[in-house]
Amino acid sequence: MKVLIVGSGGREHAIAWKVAQSEKVDKIYVAPGNGGISGIAECVNIGAMEFDKLVEFAKKEAIDLTIIGMDDPLVGGVVDAFEAEGLRVFGPRKNAAILEGSKAFSKDLMKKYNIPTAAYETFDSPEAALTYLETAKCPIVLKADGLALGKGVLICNTREEAKEGVKTLMLDKQFGSAGNTIVVEEFMTGREVSVLSFVDGNTIKIMTSAQDHKRAKDGDQGLNTGGMGTFSPSPFYTDEVDEFCKKYIYQATVDAMKAEGREFKGIIFFGLMLTEDGPKVLEYNARFGDPETQVVLPRMKNDIVDVFEACIDGTLDKIDLEFEDNAAVCVVLASDGYPEHYDKGFEIKGLENFDEKEGYYAFHAGTKLEAGKIVTSGGRVLGITAKGANLKEARTNAYEATKLVEFDNKYMRNDIGKAIDEV
Ligand code: AMP
Ligand code: GLY
Repeated sequence: MKVLIVGSGGREHAIAWKVAQSEKVDKIYVAPGNGGISGIAECVNIGAMEFDKLVEFAKKEAIDLTIIGMDDPLVGGVVDAFEAEGLRVFGPRKNAAILEGSKAFSKDLMKKYNIPTAAYETFDSPEAALTYLETAKCPIVLKADGLALGKGVLICNTREEAKEGVKTLMLDKQFGSAGNTIVVEEFMTGREVSVLSFVDGNTIKIMTSAQDHKRAKDGDQGLNTGGMGTFSPSPFYTDEVDEFCKKYIYQATVDAMKAEGREFKGIIFFGLMLTEDGPKVLEYNARFGDPETQVVLPRMKNDIVDVFEACIDGTLDKIDLEFEDNAAVCVVLASDGYPEHYDKGFEIKGLENFDEKEGYYAFHAGTKLEAGKIVTSGGRVLGITAKGANLKEARTNAYEATKLVEFDNKYMRNDIGKAIDEV
């Protein structure tokens, strides 16, 4: 089989690595990919939003299966473009990817189908939003409706901050048209858990749980980032939580999408908050998480190509998803200064230490190949993942492994997985 993966981050490297384990697969292409991915796959210089070129490439190379890693192309309808040409593709169509593409849509869906989530109001005029805020309780959460690189969420502690937030999103349009509509939401407290799942339109199969660390600095300080590290499983995702979510959230979401005429095939990523009143949905994503994928897929036992195909064919009920009874931790090595200004172009040394080292992985995100050398080319550079018999062992292994690679301005959080000491 020939497989094409669309995307360029650590998530896509982890997907490519997992696809490469499949005996069915002879050749993997990644568009556009990155420097490190080029070790296991052929990178193709086509951007994730260049649908015509992607389709043309898939036809020319007789690609058997295309996997879309990123949210933007999914929300933009890349799956529809592939299907229109009779190509096999894994991911939700445009009318289903709206589950991630519009927060107003997903909140309305949850309300209509009684799926637990924070109370909210939606506004498409700044005046109405400001009037509402006059009497709203703080802290309060403002969310741009559309995609905003994970940055369109503002937690406002005071009314003044919230009013300023309305200005940022709706008048200054910091996130462009993503802020034409905003969701104003009740502030919740609790522990966050990420749960990824495979969906075939009817059946949903849940993967093992994970927890992300979104802030740039230790102690959850600093700016929001794409994610600075993850661990899996989450010890806070207990059997009781799992049972609740199975009863009120997972299947309910798949059924709701079907009832709306928006059959969902692909990955649903449930961002959950474990509140005092039980688990609630913070957000849905219509794709694998980054860097959740880097700790979830190394623990997955199945041939992932079988699972992708079962989702496309509607036969997911025949698959038993299996995960290793161990743990994994991923520490992101970033460029100092991320997510704001940072320098790049520094050589990364020591990557060969990961070759053949069982249970240790260097998933590439912001790297590129330049004159035969791998150099830094982005904010998040590498996701260093290690497995262990339990979370503490995995964490020790992951931090040990971060010492195996060096590059100028290397920055990481030193408290990934600290929460596991509380259990
Ligand atoms: P989202 O993109 O919707 O997941 O939001 C990004 C982050 O903002 C989440 O991971 C939470 O940490 C935080 N957040 C979002 N919604 C709420 C809420 N209603 N209450 C408290 N924190 C929230
Ligand atoms: N790690 C969070 C995300 O992928 O959106």
